[in-house]
Amino acid sequence: MRHLLSIGDLDRDDIERICARAEQFSEVSDREIKKVPALRGRTVLNLFYEASTRTRSSFELAAKRLSADVVNFAASGSSVEKGESLKDTVLTLAAHSPDAIVVRTPHAGSAALIAGWTSAAIVNAGDGKREHPTQALLDVFTLRQRLGALDGRCVWIVGDVAHSRVARSNILAFRAMGAHVTVCGPPTLIPRGIEAMGCDVRYDLDDLREADVVYALRMQRERMDQHLVPSLREYAARYQINGRRLGARQVLMHPGPVNRGVELSGEVVDSPQAVITAQVKAGVVVRMAVLYELLSGARAVEPVPLEPQLA
Ligand code: NCD
Repeated sequence: MRHLLSIGDLDRDDIERICARAEQFSEVSDREIKKVPALRGRTVLNLFYEASTRTRSSFELAAKRLSADVVNFAASGSSVEKGESLKDTVLTLAAHSPDAIVVRTPHAGSAALIAGWTSAAIVNAGDGKREHPTQALLDVFTLRQRLGALDGRCVWIVGDVAHSRVARSNILAFRAMGAHVTVCGPPTLIPRGIEAMGCDVRYDLDDLREADVVYALRMQRERMDQHLVPSLREYAARYQINGRRLGARQVLMHPGPVNRGVELSGEVVDSPQAVITAQVKAGVVVRMAVLYELLSGARAVEPVPLEPQLA
């Protein structure tokens, strides 16, 4: 694997291999000294042109737990504010010879573009509405821990599918792992033709009980340039996942950040069905596995050096 730009670049074996590696790294994350020398001497550049809490912090921790050097770049406060272009910014930072660049921008396809400008391995941490492959990997990892194999499981992805890179990557990943995927939301927030990705489409929650997993999406107000729902209150009345709609045996997921009281009621966020913090925790070990795979050149699941860093 040279880059991770799309979940479509991975097949089931690749996803299983990354999950197996992440499982090995879970042991490191549970130690008192959470560090191994696997990527000592490597440099990881985090290039974030959009807000991020979970993704940026977990990529940083993942790189540090593997002993890589980390440079964090946020567009705000940088020369981007003086008008420097994406290409010039990348070429400037590439002068520091990073081995990997983790990139998030509001523009679809930007990660692939950057891959053509530098020799570093590129990890797409979200390119506009298009894809967010490491989110899909950590979600598969979290679900396999909770449910075991996903074959034949039924996953409903509910909410603002139209603006969601998470939805697109997760449909591909859940399908690759053998799950049946249904997307659900108001017609204005479901892209036309999305069935071509191999999922079913529903416009109401009437059959939500058939889901083993309810994956709620954030209403992405920053990406909506028109009024696609009459009001958030009306959206919540029809589509909010709340204690009345969520069954006791259903698993509840959300990529974060949650709009409490909009797509999820406060009670379900705090319920035992919710695995939202487990998803965040999985983010670190899955991103360790991705960085390790890209930068160490390893393909088979062989034991990784797990001795604690002494130097
Ligand atoms: C998501 C994102 O930025 O795409 N968050 C995340 O990475 N955990 C989802 C969102 O912003 O709604």
